[in-house]
Amino acid sequence: MKILFLNGPNLNLLGTREPEVYGRLTLNQINRHLEALAKDYGVEVSFFQSNHEGDLIDRLQQTGLNQEADCIIFNPGAFTHYSYALRDAVAALSIPVIEVHLSNLYQREAFRQQSVIAPAAAGQISGFGLGSYIAGFYAALLLLGHDSFKPGKEEEDAI
Ligand code: DQA
Repeated sequence: MKILFLNGPNLNLLGTREPEVYGRLTLNQINRHLEALAKDYGVEVSFFQSNHEGDLIDRLQQTGLNQEADCIIFNPGAFTHYSYALRDAVAALSIPVIEVHLSNLYQREAFRQQSVIAPAAAGQISGFGLGSYIAGFYAALLLLGHDSFKPGKEEEDAI
């Protein structure tokens, strides 16, 4: 099972960018945390960040065409609110995309309260900082039918 964590513009600045909104963890710290979590579940993970819309579209297409991941966890940054091109790229994929945001979009400015990506995504998680990516990871495991979440697993473990 393979998961790609994809991050859009300005997320390379995490740690110093508006820490009161986005927290003090750097993107590298977030990714190292996710890497350790994925290891516990035997899941392969890859990471990509870009400030450029076209590069994000290329990576979405390449991941789908070359079957490089079974699911993508995507924080599109500000592109969330207006990039029809990214939405179309997500809609064209046959693998699920889970949209995540560090901040709670619905407590913020009106322009952030709309996501043009969400209708094409499997679901959206917003407002938990690093926890949004962690919740996205577990949502991906559930969607993909990871062994840990097969019905009856708890009973099996108890034996
Ligand atoms: C964000 C929210 C967006 O509105 C903003 O432009 C970002 C980060 C978040 O993770 O909370 O860059 O996607």
